[in-house]
Amino acid sequence: MNAPTPQGIGLTPPSFVKNPKLIAWVAEMVALCKPAAVHWCDGSEAEYQQLCQGLVAAGTFKQLNPAKRPNSFLACSDPSDVARVEDRTYICSEKKENAGPTNNWMAPAEMRQTLQPLFDGCMAGRTLYVVPFSMGPLGSPIAHIGIELSDSAYVAVNMKIMTRMGKAVYEVLGTDGEFVPCVHTVGAPLTAGDKDVSWPCNTTKYIVHYPETREIWSYGSGYGGNALLGKKCFALRIASNMGRAAADGASGNPGWLAEHMLILGVTNPEGKKYHVAAAFPSACGKTNFAMLIPPAGMPGWKVTTIGDDIAWIKPSADGRLRAINPEAGYFGVAPGTNTLTNPNCMASLNRDVIFTNVALTDDGDVWWEGMGEAPAHCIDWQGKDWTPAIAKETGAKAAHPNARFTVAATNNPALDSAWDDPAGVVIDAFIFGGRRSTTVPLVTEARNWTEGVYMAATMGSETTAAAAGQQGVVRRDPFAMLPFMGYNMSDYFQHWLQLGKKLQASGAKLPAIYCVNWFRKGEDGKFVWPGYGENMRVLKWMIDRIEGSAQGHDNVFGISPSYEELNWNGMTFTPEQFHTVTHIDKAAWQEELGLHEALFQQLAHHLPAELPATRTAIAQRLGA
Ligand code: GTP
Ligand code: SPV
Ligand code: MN
Repeated sequence: MNAPTPQGIGLTPPSFVKNPKLIAWVAEMVALCKPAAVHWCDGSEAEYQQLCQGLVAAGTFKQLNPAKRPNSFLACSDPSDVARVEDRTYICSEKKENAGPTNNWMAPAEMRQTLQPLFDGCMAGRTLYVVPFSMGPLGSPIAHIGIELSDSAYVAVNMKIMTRMGKAVYEVLGTDGEFVPCVHTVGAPLTAGDKDVSWPCNTTKYIVHYPETREIWSYGSGYGGNALLGKKCFALRIASNMGRAAADGASGNPGWLAEHMLILGVTNPEGKKYHVAAAFPSACGKTNFAMLIPPAGMPGWKVTTIGDDIAWIKPSADGRLRAINPEAGYFGVAPGTNTLTNPNCMASLNRDVIFTNVALTDDGDVWWEGMGEAPAHCIDWQGKDWTPAIAKETGAKAAHPNARFTVAATNNPALDSAWDDPAGVVIDAFIFGGRRSTTVPLVTEARNWTEGVYMAATMGSETTAAAAGQQGVVRRDPFAMLPFMGYNMSDYFQHWLQLGKKLQASGAKLPAIYCVNWFRKGEDGKFVWPGYGENMRVLKWMIDRIEGSAQGHDNVFGISPSYEELNWNGMTFTPEQFHTVTHIDKAAWQEELGLHEALFQQLAHHLPAELPATRTAIAQRLGA
């Protein structure tokens, strides 16, 4: 790190940067990464346009037809860089047990030694962008600031949409404010004369977190959660550590929660409003649920979006849990989105969007599988000709299954008026839900906090294209946080249990907890539950339970609705179909409990005793 300081490349910070620690850190990183230039982002609209035009010139972006999709761009990534890389993601705590058995771990000193030669000169020939961002409303007491240094202009423009990014962050930071340092490189240095590619990246990848020093280092990928470091790396992995560290037995501070949850507001026909936070694993329906439009048969109901992916949840002085969305935009799954299943989402995408890995139509617009009628011809995400006939013959997809859109929350017609409120919204219910073609019923209510934590902790889900690797295999994904947990999973369960106990002891009413599954399949292999807007019927049952107007009945692990308790206005769903999505198969549940047991064995170190005790009670009821 004693390389000569590069001269004349914008190293001198602009006058609005007044934080000596930040200035010194940037200088140190410039000396390490050796970029050809430094660009201090101010977050202005002019800067966004300039960076986007630069990306067009570089071949990374195609500008879409402004008549069809104003101010929108398409980026297509390298085929090797299309999703999060969980096997390359590390939690480098001092002690291995603090990362826990579900995370990759390396000792910090060893990881630093590993990364040093990779980062040395990694930005040669490129511009280093200094990206200042706030997770949460600027200047709010619950927000946290990060600075991402990246050699990707694609990252800089995505961060502009996904976070509160720009000059104002430096004002909040002042001369002595705290920030989380995030260093990102695509790992593709250019030597003089090299021609750049449209999506630089490296086959070697490292997504590294140092929880004790609260640093993020990302190498080799330009895609999504690997590269937009405010999202999973900061707002989940580092923030989960912050939330737990804030818990303090002596003062009674219960700490807070950083969760992979959407937040929605739901208003009933009488105008009473509730707020719900729901954790579904990646590509399992958060964005869709957060933008739900109630069916025609349920007039007067309204759903509004606070967040679609991440929630920071803190107890307020009165003991109630309040949630904020730390993000400012959506990085959502494109395939499967259409005007029938998610009209609010489609409306959000009318303009000002960055699309990644969808197909380009001949009239300069975008298309993906599940959007509607296929075009006669388009250019697929890998730049090849695509026609329905080619697809039929080769199975080629026009859009990658993990193709995404990046769009500002303010484009969402269903945006909640409190989405930006630093005070957050009071949570009335938590929902946990995996993608399970069998076994797990449509909806179950936990009888108490511990039973709810058990449901969340033992949740299983079929893997999706959101992560590199095999798809469609059931794995345990506790709290939908398996890939995002920044410390030991068992300690995290304990944190949830203790937080509940403390709030209950203070006399507060805890949110109800539900477990859902929209994805049960029939013998024909098709989803039985229509999902999407119809999920409102399940949401209404939850509210009826909260209000005490639905009775439900006990099953072996919680409370189920009867057929009559769901509102079926305008929907044909027979009691037989209802049975298909709700019945509890004894043999399947015996097998399921075996998988819970296997998880508990894996997580035995520090596992709260309440969890195996809950399992034993369920097994007894099942056996009875
Ligand atoms: P991440 O951004 O990866 O965290 O995902 P997400 O949880 O926000 O998932 P999203 O809402 O984007 O949905 C992913 C996929 O699931 C899309 O292809 C949707 O069409 C599909 N999906 C969402 N909701 C439902 C539903 O209620 N039923 C069915 N069958 N599919 C759904
Ligand atoms: C997820 O995989 O859960 C996402 C997309 O929300 S990414 O930001 O790439 O992690
Ligand atoms: Mn997500």
